[in-house]
Amino acid sequence: MKVIRSKHKLIKYARSQQRAGVSIGFVPTMGCLHAGHLSLMRRARKENDRVVVSIFVNPLQFGPHEDFAAYPRTEKKDLVLCSAAGADAVYLPAVVDFYKEPCLSSIHVRGITEGLCGVARPGHFDGVATVVMKLFQQVRPTRAYFGNKDYQQLVVIKQFVKDLDLSITIIGCPIVREKDGLAMSSRNRYLSEDERMRALVLNKTLLRAAEWIKEGITDVAALRKRMKALINKQADKVDYIEVRRAADLRKISTCRGSVVIAVAAYFGKARLIDNKVITMK
Ligand code: PAF
Repeated sequence: MKVIRSKHKLIKYARSQQRAGVSIGFVPTMGCLHAGHLSLMRRARKENDRVVVSIFVNPLQFGPHEDFAAYPRTEKKDLVLCSAAGADAVYLPAVVDFYKEPCLSSIHVRGITEGLCGVARPGHFDGVATVVMKLFQQVRPTRAYFGNKDYQQLVVIKQFVKDLDLSITIIGCPIVREKDGLAMSSRNRYLSEDERMRALVLNKTLLRAAEWIKEGITDVAALRKRMKALINKQADKVDYIEVRRAADLRKISTCRGSVVIAVAAYFGKARLIDNKVITMK
């Protein structure tokens, strides 16, 4: 497995693969890898000739009071995991090389970045879209793999790939959960034992909401009210509870077709998100 730290070398590697006519599966990450990331790599391994993983804690997507400095960095362990999952190359750029000063451009996706996580994290999706666009330009993948856990991120990426005519297939992969249902996240390590126990309410509430919809409760206001009552009992602070059209995150008042139920809440200092997509017949 190649470990590549310079942008120049990464581009050289990626272009040589393209000249050889092989497909590239790309898994962008911020490191601190867990089973969720590994499932993306394994899927990429199955579907492509080469697998490239990036590990880059992107400063652009963190707000001034967020955890950029504290974000867990576990490079040594991550490289072992990437190798075991069958990566051909891991790209670990340095911030100064990745964002050569002055860097004056960014990608902004209107509308879908404004609700949900976009409210508490202004500018976050510009940071995500810009880093992912730059990574796509450098790696030029055939397919790129993202977890459904960051559902809004996935919709944003699909949108700019379509809008900007990029020939990359974006593949959303199922949320990987701990045995007790907690969605895997690098930020779970911020949780105390008590906070972790209480955080199980997110998945439990999503499952309960799916049952309510099945039972015929399709009014979004009623669903959100019921969910809020459950999550409020356990979370230190609820950020949002939303039910939106799954394809484009449009607001809806009644569940129809495919909907995404998305939640964000604080447990101690950890802000956790989770979601469930439900398709009605
Ligand atoms: O989902 C993540 O880990 C990040 O937002 C991503 C897509 C790697 C961009 O920094």
